[in-house]
Amino acid sequence: MLDSISRERTPGVGLFLTRWMRNPLRMGSVVPSSPALCQRIARHTRWAKDEVVVELGAGTGVVSRALLEAGLPPEKLVVVEIEAEMSAHLRDTLPGVNVLTGDAFALPDILPKALHGKVGTAICGIPLVLLPLAQQQRFVDAVEAVAPGKGFLLYTYCATSPLPYRKLGLNAKREAWTPLNIPPASVWRYTPAKG
Ligand SMILES: C[S@@+](CC[C@H](N)C(=O)[O-])C[C@H]1O[C@@H](n2cnc3c(N)ncnc32)[C@H](O)[C@@H]1O
Repeated sequence: MLDSISRERTPGVGLFLTRWMRNPLRMGSVVPSSPALCQRIARHTRWAKDEVVVELGAGTGVVSRALLEAGLPPEKLVVVEIEAEMSAHLRDTLPGVNVLTGDAFALPDILPKALHGKVGTAICGIPLVLLPLAQQQRFVDAVEAVAPGKGFLLYTYCATSPLPYRKLGLNAKREAWTPLNIPPASVWRYTPAKG
């Protein structure tokens, strides 16, 4: 069955599903994000001339592709993916994009130093809602270390904020919602409360 899934028409869906079967908590979703959700994420992504966009938990690259289609040059996109098989797929299918295989929680260590302070938007695809508060705080701190004051976008199925943002020292704003995703999803922007 898995063999036939991996020969499916939409590249990466079989890979996504097999990774989900092996590690559902890390994947957080059975299927990749829909085009409607990816377009909304891209719409709320900002970058200046000297900045890059950092996508954390890129999976099969559906959000990455929407960012490129929205006009982000490939050399300005850095994607981080912890699953080696998925990052190999990203390297094969996203020419010119900087693909980092590693843990987003170690972002200050894996992102090239020259890009620290040069992150226009960080986008989180990691299912943070499933993690305890201390780990969520580690994520917030890792992003703050490389993108001071910028915060991050997070897409989620939760109707309300998936993060206890006040406890994490953040402000929260729901930027977008779409019913055209399985399940319906929102895009949240979190920024440091003191920033
Ligand atoms: C819900 S999927 C999102 C995939 C894709 N961005 C999408 O929207 O379809 C979560 C992805 O985050 C990756 N991931 C989970 N924990 C991670 C971590 N600590 N560092 C980097 N990637 C991680 C998983 O391997 C998976 O590819």
